[in-house]
Amino acid sequence: MDQITLITKIGESYHIPVEQHTSIVELAKKNKIPWGYACQRGICAQCRTRVTEGREFLNDITPEEKLRLKKAERREHIRLGCQIKLIGEGSVQLVHTPYM
Ligand code: FES
Repeated sequence: MDQITLITKIGESYHIPVEQHTSIVELAKKNKIPWGYACQRGICAQCRTRVTEGREFLNDITPEEKLRLKKAERREHIRLGCQIKLIGEGSVQLVHTPYM
């Protein structure tokens, strides 16, 4: 079974089974992985996430992410965990990267 790797803001690495069409925040909650979130609507950015591998297996950036994130952040593959969903099967690695 394909797995996704989630790396928390303190560098802990978790390998969990891929679940398509489920947000990263939902996956983290389900697997009891600490991943900041509050609104789950693309507003608070507590779930800010860097995609380090497997962008091609994720949904396109959402209108909420376009509004909340700067272009420079998006160029550096920063997204919002509550908006990211897996839509394909392959190796994906995400790092929780909240604002300081
Ligand atoms: S949980 Fe608020 S933007 Fe993702």
